Amino acid sequence: MYTQLEQRGMQRPPVNVSTLARMKADGESIACLTAYDASFAVLVDAAGTDLVLVGDSLGMVIQGHDTTVPVTVDDIVYHTRAVARGLHRAFLVADMPFMSYTDPAQALDNAVRLMQEGGAMMVKLEGGEGQLEVVEHLARHDIPVCAHLGLKPQSVHKIGGFKVQGRDAKQAEEMTTAAVRLQDAGADIVLLECVPNELGRTVTERLDVPVIGIGAGPETDGQILVLYDILDITQGRTPRFVRNFQKDHTAPLDALAAYVQAVKDRSYPAPEHCFS
Ligand code: KIV
Repeated sequence: MYTQLEQRGMQRPPVNVSTLARMKADGESIACLTAYDASFAVLVDAAGTDLVLVGDSLGMVIQGHDTTVPVTVDDIVYHTRAVARGLHRAFLVADMPFMSYTDPAQALDNAVRLMQEGGAMMVKLEGGEGQLEVVEHLARHDIPVCAHLGLKPQSVHKIGGFKVQGRDAKQAEEMTTAAVRLQDAGADIVLLECVPNELGRTVTERLDVPVIGIGAGPETDGQILVLYDILDITQGRTPRFVRNFQKDHTAPLDALAAYVQAVKDRSYPAPEHCFS
């Protein structure tokens, strides 16, 4: 059985949590993107993306809502299943939607659905210290977890809009402490959204697990962006950290490969994509 698994894709072995840990140790930047369907998953994978997230951003870019709040577990399962069919190498992470992890038992039930029905290899949840028990419970059941800190879009109505987090020293210290505690509780990855460069660097230095940034500066262990933002599909105002990779390319695959290259050689994010 193991021989068969080992032989599959020997040229480009599938990415797993050990690959991601090794990349952090080697200083190789981890290129991540969201995807929501099989056709784009094929392209994102072929471009060399290391990690693909079926984000609850699908509520906005696929379903047309103003926030991620209406997204359900069934929605994520459906899209994760489609994306899983398109991937060969990339590591597949699925988002736990709003109110799907309010206690450890509910979180476990829903994480199992994302893995068994959707084919996810890891689940992501938006959390701080309040989610320690949930992360611990999932980790105890060998569910790989990505903890999302900084700007947490599921909390948009509580925080009053999509804005940069961790700008004052106290908030930055609290976020760093929360990241360490989430790692100690069993999180395998931390994702940091919309924080000043300095905080991105501090959290990345303090943690042993990989830190993936979105608007968190150039010094995190990897970068993630929303697929439709970099392909210039999203209309209207995009966040400061977005770069349009489609504008210099005709084929979407070339634009995606340019993104992966820019993450790998750390030319993205440039100062104009960052917060201070
Ligand atoms: O839902 C999502 O796509 C995300 C990314 C913005 C990181 O959480």
